[in-house]
Amino acid sequence: MKIISGPTSKDLAQAISTQTGLSNVPVISKVFPDGESYVRLDASVQGEDVAIVQTTCPPGQDGKLFQLAFLADSAKRAGAKKVIAIVPYLAYARQDKMFLSGEGISVETVARMLKAAGIDEFLTVNIHSEHTLGQFPFPAKTLSAIPLIAEYFVKKGYRGSFVLSPDKGAMYIAKQAQAILGGDVGYLNKTRDRYSGQTVQTGEGLNVKDQNVIVLDDIISTGGTIVGAAKILREQGAKHVFCGCVHGLLIGDAEKRILDAGVEEIVGTDSVPGNVSKVSLAPLFSQSLKGAI
Ligand code: R5P
Repeated sequence: MKIISGPTSKDLAQAISTQTGLSNVPVISKVFPDGESYVRLDASVQGEDVAIVQTTCPPGQDGKLFQLAFLADSAKRAGAKKVIAIVPYLAYARQDKMFLSGEGISVETVARMLKAAGIDEFLTVNIHSEHTLGQFPFPAKTLSAIPLIAEYFVKKGYRGSFVLSPDKGAMYIAKQAQAILGGDVGYLNKTRDRYSGQTVQTGEGLNVKDQNVIVLDDIISTGGTIVGAAKILREQGAKHVFCGCVHGLLIGDAEKRILDAGVEEIVGTDSVPGNVSKVSLAPLFSQSLKGAI
């Protein structure tokens, strides 16, 4: 097997190559003056199974998805046997059902497109809803980066922290972290208006007074969820507030708004390379690939 370094995840791909001992296939990429993407594999994949590492986070997620599809096609045309897509952040994963009539299911369209391009298997991390993967036209698996994020906080000396889930749906995340951090766990109630997108958060009966609290979510996008959680935690007397996520999209001034809300540190992964990507997913993907080799 060989690792193909997608243009959006070169460092992660290199780390996976190093940790697995699998050789790395560099990719030449450019964007034409009209905005279209070009990719070319810069080593042979003839007769090989390959894993393309390419995250599809904003900004420019549509172009990143096309790069992934073009790489799969290039690999197949160059004689690759099996093409595995390692996509830490899968764009459109949140449109995983028809919330309103007249909508489509964007994530399923994306998966069908990737299948048509030549992808045979799919690996991601903390996809928004695991049930999505059952609708994909190829074997698909999601791993969890939460233990790695919890270990990060343990190393910083925050064992025993209260782990707060910003909504009931993310409690599985909080519980995975609690297993490592060893403190209490709780969740906020969050409701969303499907037309305006506005959310309302409430938190009753949380025992966070004088506690260190880590708010954990799968995605931080605009930061509104974390800012709302931080406000509730402050009102309830939490001592220190931190937040962690797998996919730190941090759109616009989200990072500043979160820090201004009193959160002392934001921890994300290299699913979305940037300021807060302090935890690498390389060990997780490497371990999974080793099981497949
Ligand atoms: C939603 O259910 C997700 O788990 C996140 O809570 C949400 O995407 C965060 O978005 P934002 O940062 O814009 O509040």
